[in-house]
Amino acid sequence: MARELQNSLLTKARKNKNDEFYTQLSDIERELKHYKKHFKDKVVYCNCDDPRISNFFNYFASNFKQLGLKKLITACYREQVRDLFNREEDENGFFFEYTGTEGEKNKPSSTEIVYFKGDGDFRSTESVELLKQSDIVVTNPPFSLFREYVAQLVKYDKKFLIIGNINAITYMMELILIKHKKYH
Ligand SMILES: C[S@@+](CC[C@H](N)C(=O)[O-])C[C@H]1O[C@@H](n2cnc3c(N)ncnc32)[C@H](O)[C@@H]1O
Repeated sequence: MARELQNSLLTKARKNKNDEFYTQLSDIERELKHYKKHFKDKVVYCNCDDPRISNFFNYFASNFKQLGLKKLITACYREQVRDLFNREEDENGFFFEYTGTEGEKNKPSSTEIVYFKGDGDFRSTESVELLKQSDIVVTNPPFSLFREYVAQLVKYDKKFLIIGNINAITYMMELILIKHKKYH
């Protein structure tokens, strides 16, 4: 019993560790430099990102004009930076819309974000509504939900760019090959 509990805690810890890995700006820049012309007049949605700390948000807000973006939407699941902003509202997820307007700050404060009614799960109705408004989804999603994450993007016929660890990308390639019956 004690061994089972220990194993389940270890599995949970490993899962959380993978799910909470934050992407470096240098990795984002290195990959996204190949796709610059694809973003013109597009709405980009980063749906697993806290705009206050995400380097995906940072990259798109900083390059908003250069890329010719129409809008940047960044949505965050409730568990983010709980230690730093430990408020009751953190039970809810939240989002921030950046439009690149003159004078607009490219780092939202806690008072500028909009809280969801729910937890901001990428599968929630509220997050899916934002997904429907977007053209391209770009993020590094939680590894443990990777399959559901990709399935949702395919379901809503969204273009997407996922930057993840090698296990996640290998897994995605397998999903694609299975879909096309080239892998068993
Ligand atoms: C691998 S981390 C990457 C964070 C950020 N996208 C980045 O690249 O720096 C995955 C993020 O997804 C968030 N997350 C976990 N479950 C989620 C869910 N069901 N819906 C939306 N986000 C989720 C986690 O809190 C975590 O911040």
